[in-house]
Amino acid sequence: MRQQNRNVVVVVGGQWGDEGKGKVVDLISPSFDLVARYQGGHNAGHTVKFEDRHFALRLIPSGICREGVLNLIGNGLVVDPRALLAEMDSLRKAGVPIGDNLRISDRAHVILPTHALMDGAREKALGSAGIGTTSRGIGPTYETKAARTGIRMADLVDPDRFVKAVMPLLSYHTDALKHFFQVEAPNVEATLAEYIECGRRLAPMVTDVSVLISERLEAGARLLCEGAQGLMLDLDHGTYPFVTSSSCGPGGAAIGLGLPPSAIGVVVAVMKAYTTRVGSGPFPTELHDEIGERIRTRGGEFGTVTGRPRRTGWFDAIVARTAVRIGGLDALALTKLDILDEEDPIRICVGYRIGDRTLTEIPARIDHYEQACPVYRDFPGWKSSTAGISEFERLPEKARQYVAALEEEVGCRVALLGTGAKRHETILRPGTRLDAWLPATVR
Ligand code: GDP
Ligand code: IMO
Ligand code: MG
Repeated sequence: MRQQNRNVVVVVGGQWGDEGKGKVVDLISPSFDLVARYQGGHNAGHTVKFEDRHFALRLIPSGICREGVLNLIGNGLVVDPRALLAEMDSLRKAGVPIGDNLRISDRAHVILPTHALMDGAREKALGSAGIGTTSRGIGPTYETKAARTGIRMADLVDPDRFVKAVMPLLSYHTDALKHFFQVEAPNVEATLAEYIECGRRLAPMVTDVSVLISERLEAGARLLCEGAQGLMLDLDHGTYPFVTSSSCGPGGAAIGLGLPPSAIGVVVAVMKAYTTRVGSGPFPTELHDEIGERIRTRGGEFGTVTGRPRRTGWFDAIVARTAVRIGGLDALALTKLDILDEEDPIRICVGYRIGDRTLTEIPARIDHYEQACPVYRDFPGWKSSTAGISEFERLPEKARQYVAALEEEVGCRVALLGTGAKRHETILRPGTRLDAWLPATVR
């Protein structure tokens, strides 16, 4: 059997998304030749900030701001070609070249306007019982994929093939929207024309990404896989049904890129020093008081995609330990430590009380999880600014103690600490399997 090299690092979200994956991927991407997204779609919003630049990436990997990196959109994604082209245009306008540095899998599935309408109509019909999706058509497109009636990028780029393949799906959607939701689908001719034009523009970038990766790895290239969402939003292992419709963990990277699992060398999860969640679903450590409000304001906790206020709460070690187990984590990247500068005490959830039982695992039944009351360990706050600190020794002692306690509760080392949104507002901590991939200095 062929020996796999293990020049592959996977960065996943360890909580409910928005942990700061964009910052971490951008930061370490100079150590890689390839940066690839492997699941999700433009429900993701990954922020990259440096100097006075600010990018909110949706489908394009966060290696795009680095010269010499080839960015890949894998087969595991669902792609709205209009959103992808708009993102490409806006990056070009901001001075980021897009061309030979971006490739899209021929097997990625295509989001149609009717998928997004279906998503929105379902949410509206559910009212307060809804999932709180981003209404981008993500769930309905993965459903179509699983039903084996989907359209892939390879179909989109050939107008004749596209029209033939998409017509049955469009007419099914049109009927379903009309009969179940009293929603009018857009004009079919207009949709076809718009998508054919998108296909024409994207065609030069569409290729077999699995083959490309395999050939490059064989030649010694280094690959960074960028997860979207987070393990608590994973379709199988998250807080079902309040999840997204894809596999957010490192297993998703293998499937979503056509990459052998044995090629993966290091897995890192990004987690905030507290917790946030957008959309509905249980969140045991959620704060409904002025502390939650302060964290939201200080942390700028408003959705990158939808602008919705994010729900905020304390760090949950049960969630983090679940990520360690499912993700096989080698290291953590702990972001937004600076947001806790004013808090005292600072709490970490180490168990859930449900009725007269204390659990240290997340129950499968959502109605049980909804009843979970957090059991906390309290830590004294440091009550001073950590903003922009880039050396661990310069952190207040109580902040260092909080990080050490968190590592102990989670059972995983912190390799990278965030003290601000920009690249240089980062503390690098050697001593994990991520060492080989950390930059010597942060720029
Ligand atoms: P992603 O979806 O995981 O890439 O995360 P988002 O970009 O949606 O949300 C993370 C937010 O936190 C963004 O606004 C980042 O600029 C910001 N951010 C990331 N790391 C830090 C940090 O260490 N400190 C502060 N203050 N902000 C951070
Ligand atoms: P990044 O990659 C945070 C949430 C939605 C909703 C649920 C399902 O930026 O971390 P969907 O539109 O995917 O069907 O919505 O998942 N959600 C996210 N929350 N960050 C994200 O992405 C998310 N992508 C989806 O709010 O609760
Ligand atoms: Mg985000």
